[in-house]
Amino acid sequence: MNAVSRRASTLPISAVRKLVPYAQKAKARGVRILHLNIGDTDIKTPPVMLARLKTFAENPIGYAASTGVPAFIEALLVYYHRLGYTFLKSENIIATVGGSEAISMAFFATCEIGDEVLVFEPFYSNYQALALLNGVHLVGVPTYISNGFHLPDAKFIEKYLTKKTKAILISNPCNPTGVVYTQREINELVLLAVKRNLFLISDEVYREFIFVDRPHASLFPYMKKYPENMIVVDSLSKRYSLCGARLGVFSTLNESLLTGVTKIAMSRLSGGIIDQAVGAALTDIPEKYLNEVQEEYKKRRDVLYKGLSKIDGVTLSMPEGAFYCMVGLPVKNAEDFCVWLLESFRENNETVMFAPGAGFYNSEGKGVNEVRIAYVLNTDKLKRALEILAHALKAYPGRRKSA
Ligand SMILES: Cc1ncc(COP(=O)(O)O)c(C=O)c1O
Repeated sequence: MNAVSRRASTLPISAVRKLVPYAQKAKARGVRILHLNIGDTDIKTPPVMLARLKTFAENPIGYAASTGVPAFIEALLVYYHRLGYTFLKSENIIATVGGSEAISMAFFATCEIGDEVLVFEPFYSNYQALALLNGVHLVGVPTYISNGFHLPDAKFIEKYLTKKTKAILISNPCNPTGVVYTQREINELVLLAVKRNLFLISDEVYREFIFVDRPHASLFPYMKKYPENMIVVDSLSKRYSLCGARLGVFSTLNESLLTGVTKIAMSRLSGGIIDQAVGAALTDIPEKYLNEVQEEYKKRRDVLYKGLSKIDGVTLSMPEGAFYCMVGLPVKNAEDFCVWLLESFRENNETVMFAPGAGFYNSEGKGVNEVRIAYVLNTDKLKRALEILAHALKAYPGRRKSA
């Protein structure tokens, strides 16, 4: 029998989906699960997008242009121009199959096999598998809960650069920590990237979800001055509750990168033409939609932060944006605890699911007693999840003694 390749068998399982088989077993036994493990939100998709889906009438349903359906690209341009990035032209943006594909393309287009990309730990767990698929090695630079996971200074970051480093990748606002980097932090990173001739890839899929009193420090304003180095990755998944529509964006002013990414896009023929028809409705979404969504996530953030802060032995920092937080638990091993929640703990036949924290680090031994929580359920469900967590921690046999 042929063996599966070593790289397929050693590819890490996404931390957000790793425990799904346990959840399926629990559900088969009739247990209700509050899913805080994945950023798949309960907030409704804008009605204008659903209406567009219902009126989709192309027959046959053909391929889209490899770099995106023109109407979708035009709608994206309108969106970016409204944000003030009026220098962007349609040829600077490529529609991708979710932000995930844009990240994968960025790795492929910026790195040779064996090259390194700096990320700040803890980082979005799927970066790891996407990097490995492209033969890229992620190098984790630590950030700490004590200062809300903000960036270390450039001198510290420079220590992690080697001859093989090709890029720095950030998520801003950050999944999983909820940190929103300041303008000063982004400035420093930009200068470092330019000084060391690196690509800077800014994953801005949570751009609108900011709960602190400062504007988002996007990488777009730096693109004109440093067209060769800057890449922005984007997605409609979270912004418009469109996770299943698979709509993402790769953008840069670097022409050779655009040529390279266009070839990658051609190799998979096209993104989804139905998805992009839905995405093209984004300019018809009333402005209040995003304001209301942002308010709702802020409410959830507050409920979660307040509730978690009251639980004995739990550590966290106030998330500034996105809809996640990394939480330290008073347990020896958070993954074992998450499995136990799904296999053994029930309260009124209900339990809660988190993503184990270790999958958001690539340094051995880090995040072992942490979980990542996605506040994607309404405040009533969040309160219930917090109750279950508090009771479960009391009942858990693997609770850390010191806590
Ligand atoms: C930081 C970050 N980037 C990219 C993605 C990918 O999203 P999608 O492929 O659905 O656009 C996610 C999804 O959770 C994310 O959290």
